[in-house]
Amino acid sequence: MTAKGFIPKTYKNLIEKGSYIWSSPSNIALVKYWGKKENQIPENPSISFTLDNCKTTTTLSFSKKENNNGFLFDVFLDGEKKDNFKPKIETFFKRIEAYSPFLKDYYFKIETSNTFPHSSGIASSASGMSALASCLMSIEKELNPEITNEHFTQKASFLARLGSGSACRSLEGDLVVWGKHDEIDGSSDLFGIKYPFEVHQNFKNYNDTILLVDKGEKQVSSTVGHNLMHNHPFAQERFKQAHSNLSVLINVFKTGDLKSFIEIVESEALTLHAMMMTSMPYFILMKPNTLEIINKIWAFRQKTNSNVCFTLDAGANVHVLYPESETEKICEFIKNELVAYCQKGEYINDKIGFGAKLL
Ligand code: DP6
Repeated sequence: MTAKGFIPKTYKNLIEKGSYIWSSPSNIALVKYWGKKENQIPENPSISFTLDNCKTTTTLSFSKKENNNGFLFDVFLDGEKKDNFKPKIETFFKRIEAYSPFLKDYYFKIETSNTFPHSSGIASSASGMSALASCLMSIEKELNPEITNEHFTQKASFLARLGSGSACRSLEGDLVVWGKHDEIDGSSDLFGIKYPFEVHQNFKNYNDTILLVDKGEKQVSSTVGHNLMHNHPFAQERFKQAHSNLSVLINVFKTGDLKSFIEIVESEALTLHAMMMTSMPYFILMKPNTLEIINKIWAFRQKTNSNVCFTLDAGANVHVLYPESETEKICEFIKNELVAYCQKGEYINDKIGFGAKLL
């Protein structure tokens, strides 16, 4: 499939107005996407667990407008008008206009809310963009009822990617690959696909407890960070490493080898932050408590032989990952030893989920 394949033929139906509600979760990358080419094409393949509790619900209401001279929309978060969200959505609409040519025909009211607090340091772009892309696909399906479910999901992921790269991994679950990888048939730089191979029972219902270490705005946005991978001295090696780490994971998922899983996942998290620290300009998103937590996890693992591990996204918060069978033990450990390092003692219990849903 090429990008051109997502340009629709003329629509069958005419519609005046309507509304759709979708919820879509966040996701946490195991092999990280860090570095992109033009048009949101990733420099390397990535794979993520889709989350369940951390999600965005978006109501998209639309009504035909008098002319098709430009985009017309309003955005609301928790019922409050948010004009500062508009530039990002305007950019998204511009990027996807060729693929969703009805955008200028309607006025849109976008009402959105997140299950996690806006100021939690948890990025809402993956869940938000995938929910909005799903709503737009519902309109497209009404205009052209012949589109298949497979095309619907694939194009929702394709559109979401153009809003925020990692958002294309939130449409399905429980594991999603985005970016061309030689050993994964059907993988594509244009959209995420459900991981197509066998996954051992050890990885079913995997838990992710998100420790909120720093709830402030990030000092460096992901978009700026991705751009700093251009001319980065270690970029090419890093992109190669992501391919080989994903190759290793294929076997890990098949055999259920938790020790190798931990090794890859933690190495990916630290490599992501190492790329940030070796960019020019360089920057550090981890906080002292991020490191305290990592050290506690390592000490606990050594002492108890547990399979708990951590990963990080582009921020200071720590995602604590552990198999379902260790839930009780790790929840105790988190309460007793890790909560002290969270801002106001706050954390979110989440686990693997199955993607966007029409409500
Ligand atoms: C560190 O998807 O937020 O979370 O495409 O510029 O919107 P844009 O970036 P974004 O980057 C996410 C980076 C990451 C790693 C990952 O999710 O793979």
